[in-house]
Amino acid sequence: MKPYIKENEWSIIEHGFDPEKHEISESLFSIGNGHMGQRANFEETYTGSSLQGSYMAGVYYPDKTRVGWWKNGYPEYFAKVLNSTNWIGLNIVIDGEELDLNNAVVSDFTRELNMKEGYLTRSFQAELNNGRKINVTATRFVSIVQKEVGAIKYEVTPLNFSGTLGVTSYLDGDIKNTDANYDEKFWDPVNTTLSDNRASITVKTKKLDFVFCSTMETQIVKNGQVLDLKGAGEEKVKYAGLTYEAPLTENETTVIYKYAVNITNRDHDTQQLEAVAENELDKAVLKGFDKLKEEQAEAWHQKWLDSDIVIKGDVAAQQGIRFNIFQLNQTYTGEDARLNIGPKGFTGEKYGGSTYWDTEAYCLPFYLSTADEQIPKNLLIYRHNHLEKAKENARKLGFEKGALYPMVTMNGEESHNEWEITFEEIHRNGAIAYAIYNYVTYTGDKSYLGQYGIEVLAEIARFWEERVNFVKSKDVYMILGVTGPNEYENNVNNNWYTNRIASWTLEYTLEVLDYLKDSDRNLYDQWVNKLNLTEDEIVKWADIINKMYYPEDKEEGIFLQQDGFLDKELMAVSDLADKHLPLNQNWSWDRILRSCFIKQADVLQGLYFLNHEFDMETKKRNFDFYEPMTVHESSLSPCVHSILACELGYKEKAYEMYLRTARLDLDNYNNDTEDGCHITSMAGTWMSVVQGFGGMKFKNDSLILNPFIPEQWQSFSFTIRYRGARLMITVNQESIKVANKSNKTVNLVILGDELTLDGHNNLEVSH
Ligand code: BGC
Repeated sequence: MKPYIKENEWSIIEHGFDPEKHEISESLFSIGNGHMGQRANFEETYTGSSLQGSYMAGVYYPDKTRVGWWKNGYPEYFAKVLNSTNWIGLNIVIDGEELDLNNAVVSDFTRELNMKEGYLTRSFQAELNNGRKINVTATRFVSIVQKEVGAIKYEVTPLNFSGTLGVTSYLDGDIKNTDANYDEKFWDPVNTTLSDNRASITVKTKKLDFVFCSTMETQIVKNGQVLDLKGAGEEKVKYAGLTYEAPLTENETTVIYKYAVNITNRDHDTQQLEAVAENELDKAVLKGFDKLKEEQAEAWHQKWLDSDIVIKGDVAAQQGIRFNIFQLNQTYTGEDARLNIGPKGFTGEKYGGSTYWDTEAYCLPFYLSTADEQIPKNLLIYRHNHLEKAKENARKLGFEKGALYPMVTMNGEESHNEWEITFEEIHRNGAIAYAIYNYVTYTGDKSYLGQYGIEVLAEIARFWEERVNFVKSKDVYMILGVTGPNEYENNVNNNWYTNRIASWTLEYTLEVLDYLKDSDRNLYDQWVNKLNLTEDEIVKWADIINKMYYPEDKEEGIFLQQDGFLDKELMAVSDLADKHLPLNQNWSWDRILRSCFIKQADVLQGLYFLNHEFDMETKKRNFDFYEPMTVHESSLSPCVHSILACELGYKEKAYEMYLRTARLDLDNYNNDTEDGCHITSMAGTWMSVVQGFGGMKFKNDSLILNPFIPEQWQSFSFTIRYRGARLMITVNQESIKVANKSNKTVNLVILGDELTLDGHNNLEVSH
């Protein structure tokens, strides 16, 4: 499908209505506020194909696992984010005929997602079968100020008649997940209330007792006056609707305002839900649509001050990066440590809305640099809160000690049920340890280590201790039977990345223990007691570090992705005819597994994470060897390659990889955007600009910048928070400018030169 989104710096725009693209647009134009998310479904009835989707953060359902062949150790349930009450519904009836864009002549259709101010608008002209022509403009948003509130303004203008407008404003809780394993509905009714212009429905999950209350008020305004109308109520199971009739006058606009509040017993007392929702609704209605929208614009303005990236000279790139930042900020706002970031955010159901290693490996850096310190910290605390479950998970799989975090989770329990991933993709434990290192090194907040970090590190270290295999004859430790980040290989021995990240975790854990011992002996002793940490364990960890086996090929000077990798028939992706790609749609799984082709960064993931450990030559040799065999069939892949390519000075490759990640969804590159947007890889796009083109790293209390600018761009700039300072870094073809917008002094290393930048000062370096 040809890209159809219009290029614009601040908005995502679609002109013309094409039902074939509707589900893609429903994903792209999604709105969210961290508390809830809403696909860009139409408010009015639409009988064409559509994925209706309203999602509430943290509200999930344990859907019974469905597999062909059960394996001991599989989780019984797959926790998935729930598609919940449809709160946007407005049935529109024009002189007796229901408006349905699937059944009308539609013209002048435009959809616009205004990223600067955080709202969605849609306008069109429709000619109904009864000959009536109307103009409609619909605007809506979910407030990031009053998080439980969503507001809609729906304007109808008759163009060739005066007549009657019928409106049924409703809440429909009889909703099903499209990905339900056994076609079940997950919601039970609790209560429905109706009055003249308000209605509410309360529903409850069949398991786990999540109670969700939605309440709404509808107003119809003509000539600036709220019409004094009483809605005719209709109540069905899990449904409440109010129907109004209003006169329509040719060329005069009638406006329907709908305010909705969506709250759950995650945040409020179950018994109080209806009362709290009423109260929130009162506040929203009192403020009114315009005021709510103004507050929304102001709140988004603040978010952009912290997180915007400006690219001059390339509108498509500008739009791409802003779309990624916008979606990340819509998905996770970080006040609630019980929440995390699903690979599709609130834009679809695929991946069940659950947490993957994506959070630690890809998303954390974005929030570290663009948000208050507590926000990335909450992502770490989320895993700390799941530690007991991670220990249970390890026991369930037969380990006597330690913690194995799940590959996919909602509440700490494993949700994934493919053996090669559930049991074998254990490298995820390393990413969780690495995130602690990343957070502490970036923020300098070492107190985290003594507060929470060491507990998680020690339990992960214990897992690795038991998972490694000592091979007496060779006097080495190996890790057998794993799947690395490259999921196109299963059950391999000694995946270099897994071996390295496992050993690195042990190294870091010992370093943290030493740090605690030196800095706060009391605290250290408390942890040793609490964890029952023995000298034997510490000695064993050091032994594993010393004797870990790393597959390498000395002649080629590369790390081997796993034992035996060089025995494969090696060829470059460029040697494959187009008809083979993507491999996952054209080849049997068997053929993929036997081939040398790599789904996503694997050895290179290690070189990215532990970048400081390797010299340029080593990075170059491995990049040159692996990149040509990589098919990037995970959206998480191009960003790591782009960052390494920048470091190696492979400018064209870096830009090519960047383009692949930046507009992945906007241009529907993988042909799957209708399932939802690739939210976690959007953080990778951000990394490609800041860590790739910006060359941003951090070491020993200094921020390092080694930027290079693609020749297609005039300049790019990004804003980051670093150790209490707020910096704006601008790179153009001649120079690098850093503006310190705070009163904190920062240490910088720019192109190798050590510099100090005082608060509210600027500096410029030529390159
Ligand atoms: C990738 C995983 C990733 C998952 C969710 C898969 O395709 O291979 O690394 O965690 O998608 O984004």
